[in-house]
Amino acid sequence: MSDLDQVTLKAGDKSVDLPVLKPTLGNSCIDISRLNKETGLFTYDSGFTATASCKSAVTYIDGDAGVLLYRGYPIEQLAKQSTFPEVAYLLMNGELPGRQELSKFDRNIVHHAMVPESMEKLFSGFRYNAHPMAILCASVASLSAFYHDSLDLNDPEQRNQAAVRLIAKVPTLAAAAYRYSMDLPILHPRTDLDYVSRFLHMMFGVPGESFELNPVVAKAMDLLLILHADHEQNASTSTVRLVGSTGANPYASVAAGITALWGPAHGGANEAVLTMLESIGGPKNVETAVAKAKDKNSHFRLMGFGHRVYKSFDPRATIIREMTHKVLGELGINDPLLEVALKLEEAALKDDYFVQRKLYPNVDFYSGIIYKALKIPTEMFTVMFAVARTAGWVAHWLEQQVDPEMKIGRPRQVYIGHADRDYVEMDKR
Ligand code: ACO
Repeated sequence: MSDLDQVTLKAGDKSVDLPVLKPTLGNSCIDISRLNKETGLFTYDSGFTATASCKSAVTYIDGDAGVLLYRGYPIEQLAKQSTFPEVAYLLMNGELPGRQELSKFDRNIVHHAMVPESMEKLFSGFRYNAHPMAILCASVASLSAFYHDSLDLNDPEQRNQAAVRLIAKVPTLAAAAYRYSMDLPILHPRTDLDYVSRFLHMMFGVPGESFELNPVVAKAMDLLLILHADHEQNASTSTVRLVGSTGANPYASVAAGITALWGPAHGGANEAVLTMLESIGGPKNVETAVAKAKDKNSHFRLMGFGHRVYKSFDPRATIIREMTHKVLGELGINDPLLEVALKLEEAALKDDYFVQRKLYPNVDFYSGIIYKALKIPTEMFTVMFAVARTAGWVAHWLEQQVDPEMKIGRPRQVYIGHADRDYVEMDKR
């Protein structure tokens, strides 16, 4: 953190004193909100590499030290001791729940896990081979058409209700998207199961047959959900906040977050990692893949490597790496893709190109391998990410709604188009 309380910016014969905002942890920020009024200048920062878009108390990342805190609690401790519903409660409410608070929260989620029966018509409108992310975006956005009783953004109870509904229903919609794409009957959420087991039953249960839950699978799934639950102002969360800043309803805002998550540079990376490992084929081809990733003409990147914020190891990747070996061992899976992954990791970590650019394996490098071991199909990987990140999205949306400094998000631009010119008649062009 900087000791400066203000910085002075000189612009020609004008100078302006800009206050420096002090965070609890991390980099101080120059408050430039008065800059344009006093100098006529805007700032330019493509991709927001050095610009804070809001004040937030939800999650903290130190990219150089590899630190990730949810509401102040280190991810390593939460991964070891907590559960996903408890983490969701923490993110939403700011504090760990007491026993009664958690059981009330769990009951509330179970109560809202069902989705309207008529949504099956929405699913059946999709082509049989639709990507489950397409179905998830559409079905989450459509929730706003069903729940008119939670759309008054000025009512804290309604806001909370919408947040709980999203955490409760996104897994049901995610599993339904999968079942639809496999031409399997959609299963209703079972109220006697916990959050993760309920989801696994909706994914893999067979109507009329008893459902046997593998505790190794349930534990691994819970851990993956915890690790993906929030990551401060990433692209999808910033999208939720941008849409939320317009006063759009929470279902529409979260649906926008899901579309942002889909890209391979963000949540789509876990799916892309697996596709990449499969295309590499075997450990003997790893060297060629690394060389291709370094070749600027190839447009090929090592998926699952690099991160905008982490410039040392991603702490989630450290936890998940250990978990990957444990899960594969416990489930007795000998996956040749893991061998490719480990060889790739080893090759990249000692290669100057990756070392100099601080490109380390990120959380998605390993999550795909675990999901594969848990029999989650590849096209569902990003959907799984969305199930987890819903907790973070709603926490940020709730925080934003009561932020006294919240304004509609409206960036500026550096215009590089034509200066004004006259319209040209069609026959003179
Ligand atoms: N493979 C090869 N080279 C890479 C990679 C990669 N995975 N990532 C970055 N680079 C190179 C770039 O070509 C660039 O090289 P240069 O300086 O010679 O031009 C340099 O590293 C910096 O890259 P940027 O794209 O400027 O870094 P940025 O911070 O904008 O991007 C990102 C971060 C998008 C994650 C990038 O590393 C990437 O595309 N990774 C692969 C996709 C991925 O794994 N995404 C998941 C992110 S984690 C998440 O969303 C949960």
